[in-house]
Amino acid sequence: MALWGSRFEDATDPLFTAINDSLRVDHRLVADDVAGSRAWAAAIRGAGVLSAAECARLDAALVEIAAVARLDPAAVRDAGDEDVHSWVERELIERVGDLGKKLHTGRSRNDQVATDLRLWTRTQIDARIAEIRDAQQALVDLARRETDTVLPGYTHLQRAQPVLFAHWCLAYVEMLQRDAARFADARQRQSECPLGAAALVGTAYPIDRQVLAESLGFDRPTANSLDAVSDRDFVVETIGAAALCAVHLSRIAEDLIFYNSGEAGFIELSDAVTSGSSLMPQKKNPDALELLRGKAGGLLGRHVSVAVMLKGLPLAYNKDMQEDKEPLFAAMDELSLCLRIVPAVLGGLEVRSERSRRAAEAGHSNATELADWLVGRGVPFRDAHDITGRVVRHAIDRGVSLEALTDEELASFAPQLDESVREHLAIEALLAKRDVMGGTAPTRVRAAIDEAQARLDAAVATAADREVIV
Ligand code: ARG
Repeated sequence: MALWGSRFEDATDPLFTAINDSLRVDHRLVADDVAGSRAWAAAIRGAGVLSAAECARLDAALVEIAAVARLDPAAVRDAGDEDVHSWVERELIERVGDLGKKLHTGRSRNDQVATDLRLWTRTQIDARIAEIRDAQQALVDLARRETDTVLPGYTHLQRAQPVLFAHWCLAYVEMLQRDAARFADARQRQSECPLGAAALVGTAYPIDRQVLAESLGFDRPTANSLDAVSDRDFVVETIGAAALCAVHLSRIAEDLIFYNSGEAGFIELSDAVTSGSSLMPQKKNPDALELLRGKAGGLLGRHVSVAVMLKGLPLAYNKDMQEDKEPLFAAMDELSLCLRIVPAVLGGLEVRSERSRRAAEAGHSNATELADWLVGRGVPFRDAHDITGRVVRHAIDRGVSLEALTDEELASFAPQLDESVREHLAIEALLAKRDVMGGTAPTRVRAAIDEAQARLDAAVATAADREVIV
């Protein structure tokens, strides 16, 4: 039975039911709908609509309904009601009879769903932040495990300058740090309770919205009833944060796919996160990473789809907005999966540090050192760059590294170039020189690992505190 049948004479078209009903999607809001309903019952009891005894009866029934839903979520999904709000109300009336019909006094599904979805989003944001912390921890662990491993660093996918593998790990720790901050920021901005906005102009009952908001863990009530029921910016923002996080994960994935390739061979992925080919027995494909890379596309699409759904909608509520849930749910589910697989991938990968070091040494990626060395001997940088370019050209023609050029060859390019340049061309010297804050010098990277760990410990401790408080 729909919540609104009496005004209608003709039967509903089955196709209308098919397009209109949302229970198969919004059943996932059931715990939040019950939480919101319990808070609403207390609010209208405060306004004199319910007696203390009635409120207690409703509350007990709602607790029971939540337990039933928790035990068998599929049964809620398949119950055939119009939406999750209808399901809860029907269950309530089945348990407490006419008293159950009083709960919706002064409330609309418009402020109800806006509240439910904020509650759901808050829980999910907390879960994603916790998963981001785990992914960051896996990166920090890998950085610590591979503190001495050298990689070729790339620009334009051309070998550019050597870099510590740990420095690569920490780059992604920083990106994920901002992703967590974006989620936390979205969380605090959406921490306003729409209940009391009713359908669009505010409820006619004298409820205390501040108390109601706080009882649901919100910071405050929403300030404008029209805004409260008709914006979904928090959905757009949350999916946006998720999509950007997925974009970062896709870049981790791409780097690792390349490092794992036969051509690079800097790492080997574990069997646990790879698959074989149905035709070629020798293959071991980086499927988990490819999916990590691929799923970012879906998240970006969902972000855009909700923004486009909202664009140009008149105030206040419109049924278009029911389309907010599927993309939000899917985005959060997918990001969760992506984040959770990161520790599995990183924990199991083996680094072929001999190979990565050889690659870092090849490709004349120490040419900048030679130029810098000339600068140290008084050659203006532009000239030093030019001389070095000619040295590199010559080394390429001969098929040798810069260090392998003879003293005579070196001297033929510039009188300043003598054998003492060689020690400056070694990888250790080159890395040690990047001794600037944020640079790849081993001392800096070791300190950065410690700092990242300390920041992570503090973040995890704060999250645990909040769980205790709320
Ligand atoms: N299922 C609806 C949604 O998700 C709930 C709000 C319905 N409101 C209405 N006036 N029909 O948006």
